[in-house]
Amino acid sequence: GHVLILAGGLSYEREVSIRSGRRVAEVLRAAGVDVETRDADSTLVPAVLADPPDAVFVTLHGGAGEDGAIRSVLELLDVPYVGATPDACRVAFDKPTAKAVVRSWGLNTPDSVALPKETFHDLGAAAVLARIIDRLGLPLFVKPSRGGSALGASMVRTAEELPAAMVGCFAYGDTALIERYVEGIEVSVSVVDLGDGPVALPPVEIVPDRGVYDYAARYTAGHTEFFAPARLSPEATEACAGMAVAAHTALGLRDISRTDIIVDAAGKPYFLEVNVAPGMTETSLLPMAAEAAGRDLGTLCKGLLELAAT
Ligand code: DAL
Ligand code: MG
Repeated sequence: GHVLILAGGLSYEREVSIRSGRRVAEVLRAAGVDVETRDADSTLVPAVLADPPDAVFVTLHGGAGEDGAIRSVLELLDVPYVGATPDACRVAFDKPTAKAVVRSWGLNTPDSVALPKETFHDLGAAAVLARIIDRLGLPLFVKPSRGGSALGASMVRTAEELPAAMVGCFAYGDTALIERYVEGIEVSVSVVDLGDGPVALPPVEIVPDRGVYDYAARYTAGHTEFFAPARLSPEATEACAGMAVAAHTALGLRDISRTDIIVDAAGKPYFLEVNVAPGMTETSLLPMAAEAAGRDLGTLCKGLLELAAT
């Protein structure tokens, strides 16, 4: 048998996905797995029907790859895959919904407002923005509610910066998540479940060289300094690991996820978002976390695929 990696897809994160898929294919081959890689296009269904894979590894980021749509197709084809079900993806991929769920489980997440483009235009931009700043204060962080890789996301330090941030955000999605910006240490905690329950890998600390972890800082080698494990106190490390596992559980995720967190000056973690198809590129966080844990990425991916196939 063989395993199928899905990479590419129609989303703003297509290039990232292709790099993730290439990396996963490499490490799986090195682990002795027979690998095929495909795009999630119209050739997918006939190919899977003609030669069903033992299991699928989804490295599609953004859009159909993370919102559950592609996984629904895999469900219909009766092909096992690594990661969350369509229902869980739908909830987790939508940042305002995911925040509401984890908050209902008692996790801390920055106050925010979700603003659909129509509302923004209907109510009048100036009035809406004034109300949001009134409610959340400054600085703010604006991002598409269903996006990734920081595309369309920006920091807003003054009221004057907010309109441009909204326009930039709406270029990438129809709803904006406007969040109170928490100053602190940015960390990301990957969670894997190889059948014994979800386990957090060491938190990875992100220090972008120009202060913002934007698209370039994410995918250009040398633009961001990473510390794995993060330079946190044992208590803060524990709190972040607990938060990532709790988010994974609260959102009903499976096998693999990555939770992005800000730790404030007092050591208190804030949930930002969870990724159901974490980046697997050379500069991505889950592979760094695995390395910090002394885990071989190929063995890890192979284990997840074998578990999915059984
Ligand atoms: N959305 C990108 C791929 C990540 O979170 O790693
Ligand atoms: Mg993300």
